[in-house]
Amino acid sequence: MAETYAGAIDRGLEGVVACTTGVSSIVDATLCYRGFTIEDLAANSSFEEIVFLLWNDRLPNSDELKTYETKLSEGMALNLELINVLKSLPTKDVHPMAWLRTATSLLALYDDKAQSTDDADRKEVAMKLTAQMGSLVALFERLRQGKDFVAPKADKSMAWNFLYMISGEEPQDEFVKVFDTCLILHADHELNCSAFSARVTSSSLSDIYSSVVSAIGALKGPLHGGANEQVMIMLKSIGSVEAAGEWIKTALANKEKIMGFGHRVYKNGDPRAKILRGMSKELNEKAGSPQWYEMSKVIDDTVQSEKGLLPNVDFYSATVYNSMGIPTDIYTPIFAMSRVSGWLAHIFEQFANNRIYRPRGEWSGKENQKWMPVSDR
Ligand code: COA
Repeated sequence: MAETYAGAIDRGLEGVVACTTGVSSIVDATLCYRGFTIEDLAANSSFEEIVFLLWNDRLPNSDELKTYETKLSEGMALNLELINVLKSLPTKDVHPMAWLRTATSLLALYDDKAQSTDDADRKEVAMKLTAQMGSLVALFERLRQGKDFVAPKADKSMAWNFLYMISGEEPQDEFVKVFDTCLILHADHELNCSAFSARVTSSSLSDIYSSVVSAIGALKGPLHGGANEQVMIMLKSIGSVEAAGEWIKTALANKEKIMGFGHRVYKNGDPRAKILRGMSKELNEKAGSPQWYEMSKVIDDTVQSEKGLLPNVDFYSATVYNSMGIPTDIYTPIFAMSRVSGWLAHIFEQFANNRIYRPRGEWSGKENQKWMPVSDR
């Protein structure tokens, strides 16, 4: 007889507290990284500073910040041998997240510290992964356009370099600021699906690269990071502001999920969406494409009135990226470029207080089966 339990939790571990964490917290509609509100950080910090904060549990002094800025910018350069191997991977009809997952895995093969369990080596691995995730995304974008890799500039920020590396042109200051804010907003989010995947893999004492590759696989899904790409696809298929309300009502009547809405934890709104909404309005007006923001606003109002659901981080980030001319299918890879910093903070936290994740499954299959020869079946 199979063991029985009080009741299996089949519904996505809802309400289960799986570990303690000091990386980021969600209390009602307030998101904090290491105790600092996201509003404070988005208004005043930089992505490089956030990386320091997430990994060190405090803000850096000016020398420490300079060191992180330099290491991250210099670290964005990719090894030529790796570039040549990556050039042999297909890019046509390949999802950028699938390519990024493979490329990140390959990166491990060029890192002699990849298997090290030494703390200083692990920090170096983390620095390299954080610096190079965006470079990999930029390389993918260049390769599929038949263009060469653009080398980063060591005296520029990660946000500046990423925009430069995808286009080959020096970015406008305003776009750099907006993109840096987007990196800050996406850096961590408590025990989301990808951070949990990273922690589960780390809990077997596997290496950092394996844990990050697990996380990329989880982020790819449309119920998680993949939603931002789906939002832009939806907006383009709706086509006009006038059509948006009816389109959404029909989709809801057909029990379809509207991408970029709802959240497992936030029931009174995602604070990141509020910041991104303002950015989307301003940028789309300036870009001469106000229809994307206006269409989003109609959808936002309709989903709220029809279903009582509020937008999450993925809803307005889509039109922010679109206004900057970023291709739709690399929105989720850009999410990974930022979130890798949070995954690494979770991986360090897991290593520091590890116990392997090994839940049980309540048996719901057949009992007392008896094998018989194939001729008798
Ligand atoms: N569009 C329409 N209905 C939605 C919805 C959405 N985006 N999100 C949730 N709902 C509905 C569900 O259909 C369900 O309705 P029901 O009770 O009538 O069946 C109810 O709200 C509860 O949804 P559920 O899927 O159980 O919530 P969850 O906590 O399991 O899921 C998400 C949270 C984020 C996965 C879910 O809201 C979703 O799929 N959103 C769209 C994808 C997305 O934007 N993901 C990014 C998250 S940051």
